[in-house]
Amino acid sequence: MKQAISPQIYSRIDNDMYQYDGDQWWTGNNVYHLLKGSVNPCRFPYFLKTYTDVLKRNPHNKQAIEVGCGGGILAEEIASAGFALTGIDPAEKSLDTARAHARIYNLNIDYRLGTGEEIPFPDHHFDVVFCCDVLEHVRDLPKCIAEFSRVLKPGGVFFFDTFNRNLLSKLIVIKLWQEWKSTAMMPPKLHVYEMLVKPSELRELMQTNDFGKIEFKGMSPNINPLKMVHLLRKRAKGKITYEDLSDQMKLKESNDTKVGYMGYGVKKG
Ligand SMILES: C[S@@+](CC[C@H](N)C(=O)[O-])C[C@H]1O[C@@H](n2cnc3c(N)ncnc32)[C@H](O)[C@@H]1O
Repeated sequence: MKQAISPQIYSRIDNDMYQYDGDQWWTGNNVYHLLKGSVNPCRFPYFLKTYTDVLKRNPHNKQAIEVGCGGGILAEEIASAGFALTGIDPAEKSLDTARAHARIYNLNIDYRLGTGEEIPFPDHHFDVVFCCDVLEHVRDLPKCIAEFSRVLKPGGVFFFDTFNRNLLSKLIVIKLWQEWKSTAMMPPKLHVYEMLVKPSELRELMQTNDFGKIEFKGMSPNINPLKMVHLLRKRAKGKITYEDLSDQMKLKESNDTKVGYMGYGVKKG
């Protein structure tokens, strides 16, 4: 069973980058733009289609929480679909950005300080928990999954996306995207290999915490590896921006969970 991350391993991830001053989330030419341009178009339609067409629920005014909402890039999609949304994050600076952006677009999202390990809400409060691109950042994944189950009503739904942990994901997520200077598009301590999460580990934690119906889907690039390397090299040389990169490199739903994956679980009711 996956355990909490040891202090030695946790010290290698830079979760402080979410506390930097200024709006890093919505300003275009940085790695956050990929969440909006390349990741959202894959994950959010899958979440919404699952909620409405597969689970036959109506998002309108359902109580939802996004855990680890950052600057609100996914939160705004969730709120726009009709959910009554709370976003929590440990980074106050990111929450400031999220609040300011939601105000401009007239979106009513309740942003608060909090972590996945200690969600500041009572039991059985939410219909839906979203936790996306966060499971690989947390200190105590078992505690987080237990918290998601605790705050969900019976029959509530947990949606997620994250990275798998194996040789291929190490090559792509850690080496190609982060460590090798000629291709890197992410800051060097954004992800730590040992903190990535195997689908089997997540499934086991979900089953232990009362999640019944569970599905995993792959998130795969829409371009071949050679084209990806070519674009990454151009980006690293400054010949294209992150916006250009995300226009040409998007994720799509697949059956291949070896690198990125998403999915959901329904809490037993
Ligand atoms: C890659 S961002 C994801 C933002 C957003 N969920 C999205 O997908 O667009 C990771 C976020 O996780 C937050 N985070 C880090 N540790 C966390 C924890 N223990 N509980 C909740 N959020 C955490 C960070 O502050 C950061 O905002």
